[in-house]
Amino acid sequence: SSWEDRGAARIVTKETDAAGNVITKVQKKSVRDFEFTKELGDGSYSTVMLGTDTTTGTVYAIKMLDKRHIIREKKVKYVNIEKNALNKLNKARGIVHLYYTFQDQRSLYFVLEYAPNGELLSLIKKYGSLTVEACHYYSAQLIDVIDYMHSHGVVHRDIKPENILIGSDNTILVTDFGTAKIVDRQDDGSFPTDIRASSFVGTAEYVSPELLNDKYCGMPADVWAFGCIVYQMIAGKPPFKGSNEYQTFQKVIKLQYAFSAGFPTVVRDLVKRILILKPRDRLTVAQVKAHFWFRDVNWEDGSVWDTAPPE
Ligand code: ADE
Repeated sequence: SSWEDRGAARIVTKETDAAGNVITKVQKKSVRDFEFTKELGDGSYSTVMLGTDTTTGTVYAIKMLDKRHIIREKKVKYVNIEKNALNKLNKARGIVHLYYTFQDQRSLYFVLEYAPNGELLSLIKKYGSLTVEACHYYSAQLIDVIDYMHSHGVVHRDIKPENILIGSDNTILVTDFGTAKIVDRQDDGSFPTDIRASSFVGTAEYVSPELLNDKYCGMPADVWAFGCIVYQMIAGKPPFKGSNEYQTFQKVIKLQYAFSAGFPTVVRDLVKRILILKPRDRLTVAQVKAHFWFRDVNWEDGSVWDTAPPE
């Protein structure tokens, strides 16, 4: 029921009538306000459609979830986590914006910002790999948005190139918070460091060794995934990839990966300091930001998000 009660579902418009009185109209968005055109993506629990608000002409990506399927598969908790995480992070650059949520008898709907330039994965596949400049541009945005999520108590737990969309200005938009963990600050103001995962979360190629070994999945797991993605942007393939999930897991827990001869030295140094088995010994987000690879980045002035993307 809280689905529609939240502010996100309500549009408040102010109109002035002939006598000069201001009339506040509260209007709820519903599925009838949108025209659905094409399918953008399809997952086990959801379908994303391109949808146009017929009154404003604005285009959105609308994620639809079948209620019966969600209940049958016991995913209600994850749908709520996704909504809560997006609402918590909604003011930031680099996070896909959630405009409205509503439901009808059959489905739940998330009206999301439309990312017209597709997934980072498609970009890597299209070019085979990215240039050092492009890798620098996207990796700076990615670590900045991970920093933002963590400082708001959200661990994403499934960061991968499919979940990194490219917006209209070519900056990244992280999506898919269905497997996120929202943590509360402790009495001393810090976030807990031992977050246990009750079941497997994530994707084999980007899963951290601590999740496989100890079912532990905290903030360092997002940094591990970041390291895998930086490697992939340069190499064209993720560092750990077996012929099946089990083989991939084996490679992860044995730290079995290698750099090709031409892999740039600075990026290699960064990746080496991130792909470390023990989460305590891995670079933290702050240490990643302070690495030599990002020596020319000003993290305070927004230039990470406002600079034009490389060719
Ligand atoms: N596919 C899934 N979510 C999307 C979005 N927000 N924009 C474009 N394509 C998507």
